[in-house]
Amino acid sequence: MTPGIAPLLFFDSGVGGLSILAPTLSLLPNAPVVYVADSAFYPYGTKTEAEIAARVPALLGRLVERYRPRLAVIACNTASTIALSVIRAALDIPVVGTVPAVKPAALGSKSRVIGVLGTQATVRQPYVDRLAQEFGADCTVLRHGSSELVDLAEAKLRGEPLDPDIASRALAGLLEQEGGDRMDIVVLACTHFPLVEAELAAASPRPLTFMHGGDGIARRIAYLTQGQTWPDHPVEGTAVFTRLGPDIQALAPALAAFNLTEIKGL
Ligand code: DGL
Repeated sequence: MTPGIAPLLFFDSGVGGLSILAPTLSLLPNAPVVYVADSAFYPYGTKTEAEIAARVPALLGRLVERYRPRLAVIACNTASTIALSVIRAALDIPVVGTVPAVKPAALGSKSRVIGVLGTQATVRQPYVDRLAQEFGADCTVLRHGSSELVDLAEAKLRGEPLDPDIASRALAGLLEQEGGDRMDIVVLACTHFPLVEAELAAASPRPLTFMHGGDGIARRIAYLTQGQTWPDHPVEGTAVFTRLGPDIQALAPALAAFNLTEIKGL
């Protein structure tokens, strides 16, 4: 971290937030970054609303106190759809959340059947009902939650061999629902899933369009920090894990590709 220059703080349960960090670094290549993965409580998608709401705002409060970021990005659909307003109320810095890209999907769908692929916790949120009503009232919005696809993304970034059936099963969870045969767009409503988009495309029995909010979130971060001072060259970032272990060390090469060269515990 560069002393004296406030970083951007990215937060997720694991490596999913890298799918938001990537487009952000394209727009703001010199931004100092603290990337936080709540590995001690991973995965979020199988937890209850109460568990997420009890943990995440308090943890963010600690992190902001420690790292003094200029802005926090909740790079996790599960945490955002459950706890974004509480997190915002708890922090005195701008907070950017990540919510399923139902709006662009509904705008782009020709068949008027879209799929929302997220964690089990995200796809059952009233937040998703509201997005579907507001932006896709004339669409059939199919939903499916997959935790094994979250694990697949983590395994990919650890460099492990991948089971192709996992992506097939996740897509089948949408395609086999009523109307699934007409679905043309799949919203990747978990930040881990863009990291395995190639595997999803390869497993798809017919061409599907995958959409997620990463680029829009990056533009929002750039807008909110417009006119602020950044270092004049790219700087090395820090990856903070709430639990360390050999599985976390195995992520080092993937993290280094995002200039996250320091790995430490909280
Ligand atoms: N990457 C997160 C999301 O966007 C959570 C994945 C998990 O921990 O289950 O929902």
